Amino acid sequence: MGTGIRYCFCMAPKEQPIIRQVFELLRRIGIPPSYLAFPVCLSLCTAVAEGASMSLLIPLLNGFLQRNFAFAKEVPVLGSIIEKLPPEVLANDRMLFAVILGGFITLFLTKNVLRYSTVLSIAYFSERALHHLRKALFTRYLSFGKLFFDRTNVGHHSTLLLEFAHLALRPVQTIDKYMNSMFSLAAYFIVMISISWRLTLVALPLFVVLHFTVRTMIVSIKKLSYGIAERGSALGKKSVEILSTIPLVKSSRMEREEQDNYTAISNGKSRMDFRARALQEMILPLQEIITITAVAIIFFGALYLFGRDRVASSSAIMVYFYIVMNASSKFGTLSGFRGTLAAATGPLSEVRRIFTEEGKFFVRGGSKHFAGIGSEIACKDLSFSYDDDRTVLQNVSFILAKGAMTAIVGPTGAGKSTLINLFMRYYDCAPKSIFVDGTDIREFTLESYLEHVALVSQETLLLHDSLRSNILYGIRREVADAELQRVLEQARLTEFVGKLTQGVDTLIGDRGVRLSGGEKQRVSIARALLKGADILILDEATSSLDSETEKLIQEAIDEAVQGRTSIVIAHRLSTIRNADKIVVVEDGSIAEEGDLETLLQNKGAFFRLWEQQKF
Ligand SMILES: Nc1ncnc2c1ncn2[C@@H]1O[C@H](COP(=O)(O)OP(=O)(O)OP(=O)(O)O)[C@@H](O)[C@H]1O
Ligand SMILES: [Mg+2]
Repeated sequence: MGTGIRYCFCMAPKEQPIIRQVFELLRRIGIPPSYLAFPVCLSLCTAVAEGASMSLLIPLLNGFLQRNFAFAKEVPVLGSIIEKLPPEVLANDRMLFAVILGGFITLFLTKNVLRYSTVLSIAYFSERALHHLRKALFTRYLSFGKLFFDRTNVGHHSTLLLEFAHLALRPVQTIDKYMNSMFSLAAYFIVMISISWRLTLVALPLFVVLHFTVRTMIVSIKKLSYGIAERGSALGKKSVEILSTIPLVKSSRMEREEQDNYTAISNGKSRMDFRARALQEMILPLQEIITITAVAIIFFGALYLFGRDRVASSSAIMVYFYIVMNASSKFGTLSGFRGTLAAATGPLSEVRRIFTEEGKFFVRGGSKHFAGIGSEIACKDLSFSYDDDRTVLQNVSFILAKGAMTAIVGPTGAGKSTLINLFMRYYDCAPKSIFVDGTDIREFTLESYLEHVALVSQETLLLHDSLRSNILYGIRREVADAELQRVLEQARLTEFVGKLTQGVDTLIGDRGVRLSGGEKQRVSIARALLKGADILILDEATSSLDSETEKLIQEAIDEAVQGRTSIVIAHRLSTIRNADKIVVVEDGSIAEEGDLETLLQNKGAFFRLWEQQKF
């Protein structure tokens, strides 16, 4: 078997940029990142409208204070627009004021409409992306082999689906701000150069210092992000584990210890979360302090070096100063986004791991349609191990004849249920080890094969739903009420259902907690009988029943197995008296096989088991 999955929560040695990883993830779930172009364009239009409305504010205030708007004709861009107005408007100061005010209000309204549209489109995109990611993750989980779930923890998976998926896509939610800052920065840079290239040359190192300061912090946030993801997962594991084993916790009086364990994990996570937040929030003030200090140095340095007149006019210097401050704030938004990206690293790597092929233990079936068993199922030299260090089945060979009842007996841990697990295709067996009518079981499609197999497993699996839904689970055809009643009767459930006020529509609780062990088992039997499959597998199906009910159910089972190929595992050997063939498994190998009479005469392994049970 392959190697197990280790959730190491460690940084990959060479990582792709995070935004690329997010985009790759989006592509994988069928959402082209190009869909983001629309909201990003909207966000840019918002920025343009904002810039334009802000720049209109200056002549508006100027004119209002001077009570004269004639100067507006001289203002670049604005002047060329105003000139197109009719001469009577141009000559009238009040009308000019009204036009500029109208323009300002229109631009302001436009900006807000655009801004809301941007937020809406980004929100729509990210919520849909999250939905598709969850859907893809869940579909992926359903495709993994049982061994994957044997080796990982359900609490981790629940955290991954609910929390990590959300965190991994967080960068998408703020991408518009990131793009907006990038474009604004580019525009600022152009304006800065046009005002004074000398000053800009001196100002550039400021951004280099800012960049490296932020980068150092980003690396720390990234490292913390893996730790936070690890603790988040541990918290999920603990919650699910403890809440699903409450009776054990209570009977062992472990409430206090479990509370302490949970508190310790939650405390660790909270402290790490705080450290990451502290770092993330430190980026902005730190870069502001660096900017102010640098701006002061640059200004006085430049003025001292070049002289005031060689730099720019005083009003241009004012504007320049204003732009540098603004640029620094945009740089802050950009850094904040990089912080968000860094914080998404841990969850993102967990989510991406679900999409890799390693350690998923797929059981993929072949392409042949299984139309039902013709003459036999044969195991040939079947060996199997769940992990590398221990062989559970070794060179097992036997034949299950069509229409016959084959019993598998043997001590606990011998490998009986493992054999069933392989027949159920929960785990992949080695090629050419199980055959149905000479065809390797691996060549059949899983759907067509499992359609013909019904199982009552040793461990009863029930859903938090009604009795009816649990019995009908997996049955895709219409089931008439009469048929359901018949199956309830066969599984000796009619009397029990009669006592329930809501009958078959009664909710049976989480994993069927509202049912007794025997009732659960009978629900499982009813489910298998209703399936009407031609191969029926019963793994300790009646072990939780009293001998009276067992006898009654045994009759129903005997009826049901008539004409069907059945495999029955039972510790109580009396229940397999009618078997056509008994296979004795000991320590993963076949110790003996034959019918009851022969085995008793042989006085071998079966005889010993039989004699033990006689008393
Ligand atoms: N999912 C698993 N991963 C690793 N080892 C497993 C797994 N399931 C079972 N085993 C091991 O395989 C061996 C055979 O287990 P199996 O469940 O087949 O026994 P069994 O014969 O059905 O026993 P019982 O009569 O108690 O049900 C056991 O030693 C068990 O520890
Ligand atoms: Mg078993």
